[in-house]
Amino acid sequence: METIRVGIIGAGGIAQYGHLPAYQKIPGVEVAAVADINEKKSAYVAERFGIPQRFVDYREMLEKANIDAVSICTPNYLHREMSVNALNAGKHVLCEKPVAVTGEDAEAIVAAAEASGKVFMAAFCQRFTGASRVLKKFIEEGKLGDIYYAKGSYIRRRGIPGLGGWFTTKSLSGGGCMLDIGVHVLDRVYWLMGAPEPVAVSGAVYQAFRDNAVDGGWPPLETRIGDVFVGINDVEDMASGYVQFANGATLVLEASWAGNCEPNSYLQLFGTKAGALEDARGLRIFGEEAGSLLDIEPLVDKEINVYEAEIAHFIDCIREGKQPLTTAREIINVAKIIEAVYLSANQNGRQVEISEL
Ligand SMILES: NC(=O)c1ccc[n+]([C@@H]2O[C@H](COP(=O)([O-])OP(=O)(O)OC[C@H]3O[C@@H](n4cnc5c(N)ncnc54)[C@H](O)[C@@H]3O)[C@@H](O)[C@H]2O)c1
Repeated sequence: METIRVGIIGAGGIAQYGHLPAYQKIPGVEVAAVADINEKKSAYVAERFGIPQRFVDYREMLEKANIDAVSICTPNYLHREMSVNALNAGKHVLCEKPVAVTGEDAEAIVAAAEASGKVFMAAFCQRFTGASRVLKKFIEEGKLGDIYYAKGSYIRRRGIPGLGGWFTTKSLSGGGCMLDIGVHVLDRVYWLMGAPEPVAVSGAVYQAFRDNAVDGGWPPLETRIGDVFVGINDVEDMASGYVQFANGATLVLEASWAGNCEPNSYLQLFGTKAGALEDARGLRIFGEEAGSLLDIEPLVDKEINVYEAEIAHFIDCIREGKQPLTTAREIINVAKIIEAVYLSANQNGRQVEISEL
């Protein structure tokens, strides 16, 4: 088995908590280099994870380090440039969510991936939960029938990440809670629905905690070495969206970083044969059999480390030349739906046609 050599771009919270430990658990994978503009942090991370080479400029890493693949773990506005440059340099790419701030960014990345012939995967880790896997199987086997209505919600009560840093600065993040955590639930529901063609979207955004915002503790404090959080907070802390698809299905989305509410995450699917609900109580399927209404509670693996599963899948795709679970079309449409939520919200909730983007 040939060793796969990986470089990490951006050595912050998700690199330290998700990517680095996951790569280092896989036999035949070596994290060979790390690049971060914050030298203090890359020095700490290189030492802690035993990474032999470190760089300030990721382009130098792409040029000089002997690596086959990169993980992109930087602020969102950098994902397009870094993905395209890494793919053009012949590297396989795993890019953190949200892959792109706009549909156009996503299309540029996908075009670079197709031209390079390298693996490009979006780090949508929520597809790897035990419940996601079980539910996808139920759907693929036709147990839910046609899914015509869905809801997805990711609600935090006090969970604004990196207040005053890039997360809360629109020019660096691209947006607030909808882009940051709404994208997780959108991607998962959209994938479970079978990725129908989105047609129109309306949305609303709110910033109720502009003056009394509290930092929610992500990135973990011990990963913030050398980071400065004295900037602005100009992004939404609550957002909702309504998506219509060409097959007639609709989706209601909600995301909140902060709200006077019970923290809560769930997804719900209405199918012609059965429905599904996943929330804090677990996964349940609501069907009908032999003339009786029937609730099924599938036993799902709750111990899966989603980052380990996601990164093992990325490495598998590289080794076996497989198409990753996240397809180009899904990546583009997820980016377009969120772009359309923001566009609609900025135009008093006007319904935005996806074809306008
Ligand atoms: N999948 C998940 O569950 C999950 C969780 C958290 C974050 N994320 C995503 O991961 C990405 C990073 O988030 P984070 O929480 O780790 O943020 P972070 O601020 O902790 O880390 C970002 C790092 O990128 C570095 N960086 C900035 N500009 C750079 C450049 N030009 N070149 C090299 N490095 C640069 C910063 O110095 C910092 O160390 C974001 O896109 C975020 O949405 C995903």
